[in-house]
Amino acid sequence: MKKEGYSVSKWPDVDLINEKMDKLINDRLYEIKPEAMGRYLNYFETKCKGSKALNEEARKYIPGGVQHNLAFNYPFPLAIDRAEGAYLYDVDGNRYVDYLQAGGPTLLGSNYKPVTEKVIEIIAEHGPVTGLFHEYELKLAKLIREHMPWVEQYRCFGSGTEADMAAIRVARVFTGKKKIVKAGGAYHGWSDQLVYSLHIPYTKTYEAHGIPEEATIHTKECYPGDIESLRKVLEANEKEGGTAAVLIEPFGPESGTRMTHFDYCAKVRELCDEFDTLLIFDEVVTAFRAGPGGAQGYFNVRPDLTVFGKIVSGGFPMAGGVGGREDIMSVMAAGVKAGKKRAYVGGTLTANPLSCAAGYFAIKEIIEQDAARKAGENGDKLCAGIQGLIDKYELPFVVWNIGSIIHFEVSGVMYLSVTDPDIFKKIPQRQHNIEEFGAALTANGVITLAGSRIYTSMADNDETIAETLRCFDEVFKNIDR
Ligand SMILES: Cc1ncc(COP(=O)(O)O)c(C=O)c1O
Repeated sequence: MKKEGYSVSKWPDVDLINEKMDKLINDRLYEIKPEAMGRYLNYFETKCKGSKALNEEARKYIPGGVQHNLAFNYPFPLAIDRAEGAYLYDVDGNRYVDYLQAGGPTLLGSNYKPVTEKVIEIIAEHGPVTGLFHEYELKLAKLIREHMPWVEQYRCFGSGTEADMAAIRVARVFTGKKKIVKAGGAYHGWSDQLVYSLHIPYTKTYEAHGIPEEATIHTKECYPGDIESLRKVLEANEKEGGTAAVLIEPFGPESGTRMTHFDYCAKVRELCDEFDTLLIFDEVVTAFRAGPGGAQGYFNVRPDLTVFGKIVSGGFPMAGGVGGREDIMSVMAAGVKAGKKRAYVGGTLTANPLSCAAGYFAIKEIIEQDAARKAGENGDKLCAGIQGLIDKYELPFVVWNIGSIIHFEVSGVMYLSVTDPDIFKKIPQRQHNIEEFGAALTANGVITLAGSRIYTSMADNDETIAETLRCFDEVFKNIDR
């Protein structure tokens, strides 16, 4: 369905994707031929010496050598000097087409000057932080509500992780219930209660340790996209005091790595009403990227609370927020004085003028420049081009896009099932296959999110897309078929 100003021109064929993914994970691995992989790795050794040296030194001072999970790249993390529009430049002067886009926030392209200049003005005039109320907090909240009318009130947080934590706390205070239901495989930040069954449904704490079992007893998961699975969990929770909230990414877990049918969110809304449960949309990725009204505007489905991050501070720190119905949001402002139960939240640097002004000007520009639609068109073109190359080389790889979010799967690791007795043997093998693929793309001038995801931006154009397709062609040509 095409909706004016939105990035998604057509909802992907979910059944077809699932069918192709099923084949992919039951197939052998399709690896890059050793000779070509050797050449790609040689690129890192010969052309990225500055990055290598910095990383070797950083390993002594920083655990793993980098501060950010998305930077743990194979064969070693590149040291990036600067990001500009659709490009990244490393410290050795190499240029890459940038489809990481900082993990999603820079829909306008990196370091978009009209926003950067405003932010510099704000810092010069007001300073980065006051610790007290500043006008830009109000401007940002009003602007969000103008485009997302179900976000009647808005409160800033330091990150998406914090915002998700706050949203479930608010839901518990408001409903008086304890259980939270998330979709298996989804990422809602790294808090104790939510960093659970990451990437692959029902893997529970496989990827997250150091969390006492008691911390996750009220976190329940349903199978992504399966409405009957959600109903069963909600029914089971009824016997244990009920569900405070169902927390989902409206495009499906991990930005739609596992796709859900178009009507899924509407059905979840109905179930939440039936079970008297709040519906929380985690729109950390989709708010403003999906279009001016976020994924909720695209689907026309009302959440009770919305979680924000990334774009909400335009690529500047600190990106996080919760918005929603006034009566629900008000529990953050309650307390002993008001005689009402309070969801205690906070943050010393939260809602500083820098973050609020950056978010305000970025969102204004996104709307004025029609950035979501433009980035979505770039996503459509690039996805169609990658599909053309998959067909040309007769590969089993799977590619689809939800507007400006493209998923391409070369080994399908996240589609493995816990019912597969070999799952824990297969995960590292299939993961390494993706790492190699990501490294091969990088060596040819394209940076993606972990070799399996692309965020397009308004800064992409026919030239960057052609450059990217040449790179995919080179790598696909060297797959051992
Ligand atoms: C859907 C979703 N929710 C929450 C988060 C956590 O946000 P942050 O990294 O700002 O803590 C992310 C981060 O990627 C995300 O994609």
